[in-house]
Amino acid sequence: MKDLYEKFAYDYDEFGAIEEYLGDEKTFFEVLFKEQKVTSVLDCACGTGQHLFMFSQMGLEVQGSDYSKSMLDIASKNLTKNSIDIPLFQCDFRYLEQKINDKFDAIVCLSTSLPHLHTDKDLVTALVSMRNRLKPNGILVITQGTTDYTLTLPSIEVVVNQKDFSRVFVKEYGDEFLDIHVLDLFHSENRMESNQYDIQYRILLQEDYRRLLTEAGFKDIKIYGDYDMNEYHKKSWRLIVVAQVS
Ligand SMILES: C[S@@+](CC[C@H](N)C(=O)[O-])C[C@H]1O[C@@H](n2cnc3c(N)ncnc32)[C@H](O)[C@@H]1O
Repeated sequence: MKDLYEKFAYDYDEFGAIEEYLGDEKTFFEVLFKEQKVTSVLDCACGTGQHLFMFSQMGLEVQGSDYSKSMLDIASKNLTKNSIDIPLFQCDFRYLEQKINDKFDAIVCLSTSLPHLHTDKDLVTALVSMRNRLKPNGILVITQGTTDYTLTLPSIEVVVNQKDFSRVFVKEYGDEFLDIHVLDLFHSENRMESNQYDIQYRILLQEDYRRLLTEAGFKDIKIYGDYDMNEYHKKSWRLIVVAQVS
């Protein structure tokens, strides 16, 4: 499998430093994890470590894994800078058991990471692999910004707008896939450069998650449309899935 983030990793945090997570996302996890008595968590697509940092601030036992060596490299640097020591593993989330021995109260796969897999077979393989790393009654949390509503928005979106840097998403909507062309434009005195990264997401909406998670052995599937735990609907900006091992 190709690492789409091999080069992108080194500029990824232009989205924002890992310490700059959204407060409502932290509150969502605090409420959920308290209710579910979660003390240990694996972020299986940890990227540059934003949520590893957040969970460690919450006092949880945290481990991280990601397919991309470059993203892990940046995560490691980001965490070291904050004097945080978290075990990190280079691992495809379809095969977590190959690198990760522990079992967790919660596994998270956040910010549109799972849709990098394109077939039902791969998606179910990944969800089963996650289920097998969960303790009895453990929970899986999946989040994404692709929703019924966001799929109706204009195809060009400026997602970062700074004095010296702009990041633009150019989106191509298909029936089954969403292609995102990330255009990074550096326009400072010192750096005049443009880069393009192309990412193809499988479009997964609430009925897909219910079907795939049920097939993979999860129950009590809840789908929220925001971090205040309002039910998902056709105008939601987020799709947040919480499911329990059955
Ligand atoms: C959009 S980024 C999100 C990163 C992070 N979760 C965040 O919130 O910033 C998607 C991440 O999923 C990872 N990824 C994609 N396919 C993967 C796979 N099969 N196994 C593990 N990680 C994967 C990528 O390497 C990348 O770090």
